[in-house]
Amino acid sequence: MTATGIEIPLNLVKPSAPYEATVIENRCLTPGSSEDVRHIVLSLGESGLRYLEGQSVGVIPPGLDEAGKPLRLRLYSVASARGGDDDTGTTVSLCVKRTIYENERGEIVRGVCSNYLNDRVAGDRVKICGPIGKHFLLPPDPEQPIVMFATGTGIAPFRAFLRQRSILKHRGAAILIFGVRTSNELLYLEELQALLKEPGDRLALAISREQKNAEGGRMYVGDRLHDLGDDVLRLLSGGAFTIYQCGLKGMEAGVEAAFSRLLSQEGLDFSALKPEWVRAKRWLVDTY
Ligand code: FDA
Repeated sequence: MTATGIEIPLNLVKPSAPYEATVIENRCLTPGSSEDVRHIVLSLGESGLRYLEGQSVGVIPPGLDEAGKPLRLRLYSVASARGGDDDTGTTVSLCVKRTIYENERGEIVRGVCSNYLNDRVAGDRVKICGPIGKHFLLPPDPEQPIVMFATGTGIAPFRAFLRQRSILKHRGAAILIFGVRTSNELLYLEELQALLKEPGDRLALAISREQKNAEGGRMYVGDRLHDLGDDVLRLLSGGAFTIYQCGLKGMEAGVEAAFSRLLSQEGLDFSALKPEWVRAKRWLVDTY
């Protein structure tokens, strides 16, 4: 149970007996980019499955591994609010990046599950389970401000958070710092701009291959924290806040270094504050 009074749904459907969700929509979010990121909407039908913002869906790709066992499930963060994009409570949306990379032998490797998902079309069935995760959730009090750092598909839970909070009359300020490599990888940009319109809200973009930081290097999310320093400090000074990070694991060091710099200007010690924030669930990380 959370302080919001709603039960956190967990593992309603197990990987051993997955639900076959139907694909309703598969839309490319990155036209003109070498990256292929898709917004995929799945119907939950009569399954009774429901997901909260910040939780993940388990997806089980078809086929068997070398040992003849079912392929392991992969996690994808929920990109929709609890009611789903259509507000029926019977759909869930995902934001999936097609993984393609060159291995050490110079061969092109296509990630199993992300390629499977991004190749699905409306009407296809996909085996899913979950919900998974109970830590990366909205604060119980909707008036509490939130600071969000996203890289790439790490934007998914924040789209969900902002959509969920947009239906409330009163909500706390929201600061979103979103990092990508190039501007045609800016997922959901217009929607995010529309969702971040309340006084105190901020949206800052860090486009690493197109923008330069103050030292002339690539612009990363940590550099943008520096630019928004006063806004973030004002928000933290209220005492009640939650700071979130989602996306590539590599982002954490830069965000921590930026907080350390920002707080030291105020005579505060980030290395002492961070463990307190972690304990109080004010510092939440979901990186992969
Ligand atoms: P597959 O598992 O087949 O291959 C990926 C593996 O290949 C990696 O584990 C790595 O070992 C290797 N690899 C990948 N890139 C490489 C490179 N450049 N060089 C060398 N080796 C490389 N994804 C997403 O798109 N959207 C989301 O919202 C989320 N959310 C999410 C939440 C949480 C909690 C976790 C733990 C993970 C995610 N992911 C995600 C990632 C997702 O679960 C999954 O790992 C990726 O889609 C890749 O899975 P595949 O099956 O496609 O690749």
